[in-house]
Amino acid sequence: MRNNGTGMMGVVIPDETEACAEGYGGEAAENEALVGENIAHNGYHDGILANEKVEKAIALSNRKRIFGILSDETEVVRLMAKIIAIANQKGGVGKTTTTINLGAYLAANNRRVLIVDLDPQGNTSSGLGISSDELSGDLYDVLMDGVAVAAVARETAIKGLHVLPASPVLAAAEVELVAVPQREFKLKQALSEVPYDYVLIDCPPSLGILTVNGLVAGHELIIPVQAEFYALEGLGHLVQTVQRVRRSLNPDLGLMGVLVTMHNGRTSLSTQVHDEVKRHFPDKVFDTVIPRNVRLAEAPSFGKSIMHYDGWSKGARSYKALAKEVEKRSGVKK
Ligand SMILES: Nc1ncnc2c1ncn2[C@@H]1O[C@H](COP(=O)(O)OP(=O)(O)OP(=O)(O)O)[C@@H](O)[C@H]1O
Ligand SMILES: [Mg+2]
Repeated sequence: MRNNGTGMMGVVIPDETEACAEGYGGEAAENEALVGENIAHNGYHDGILANEKVEKAIALSNRKRIFGILSDETEVVRLMAKIIAIANQKGGVGKTTTTINLGAYLAANNRRVLIVDLDPQGNTSSGLGISSDELSGDLYDVLMDGVAVAAVARETAIKGLHVLPASPVLAAAEVELVAVPQREFKLKQALSEVPYDYVLIDCPPSLGILTVNGLVAGHELIIPVQAEFYALEGLGHLVQTVQRVRRSLNPDLGLMGVLVTMHNGRTSLSTQVHDEVKRHFPDKVFDTVIPRNVRLAEAPSFGKSIMHYDGWSKGARSYKALAKEVEKRSGVKK
């Protein structure tokens, strides 16, 4: 852990270098998997596929599956998703707006994206046009009853974007999980083999067991911070929670970035807050800043992302730029 000092708000900055594990098994595993393919391939053509070689090929091919690389000679598809938790226990800072619109633009880049609505308020689900009345199952069933993600995930109006919806019943999980063994790992277990490039987890405005599940499942964390006077207040608690999670539950959790939201370029306060956030999180603040934009606030009531609601608005352009930056920071190859 690195402590860059405690500034005005006493915020301790997590060490990104310690927590930036790739999470995919890396190039070496990929190479070994390909070696396995070649052994099987050459053995077949030479007609000398000895038992030893078969066993080695099978072992490597299994390993290849574990590391999530499927090769059918024409394309290589990653089976393991990059999982990004979007969290800040402060309410109304733009977590849900960011999850929906980042997800929409990643999907527009031909990514397969799953949004997990980890908030019993269900705002992400309704913002994507899914009403809790019409649900036959939701995240509660996944976390508490072990129902498969594929059985509950829903398509949205955006090609390639699915949502694992929430409803108010999820609030019960916050209480019921307390008595369950491995309670912090329920979401991680559920997401272990989902066929997506990205999973975005919209966390609720609390640091309870649901948010902890999000932080344990995540490879990376995005912290939206609203450009307002109390922006940094409470961030110290979030950072401490992240450090506790890293120590005992998920050492690989990386901080992808801090995102300044609802920025008003006409006020010096917004600029001051932006500077202050950069001072607390050097090198970790996204270059993209999300402006305050009424079109972003209107879109959810139509069940649409900003991309479909008003793709030329300032808000839309900023989330498109954020998706580009997230792709770059993730290092997920196409
Ligand atoms: N950039 C923006 N410009 C204008 N309004 C915004 C912007 N981002 C979010 N909003 C609005 O601010 C409110 C809070 O945003 P949002 O729901 O995304 O925050 P949240 O952090 O998910 O809230 P909660 O903590 O309750 O889950 C919503 O009404 C949303 O439409
Ligand atoms: Mg929200």
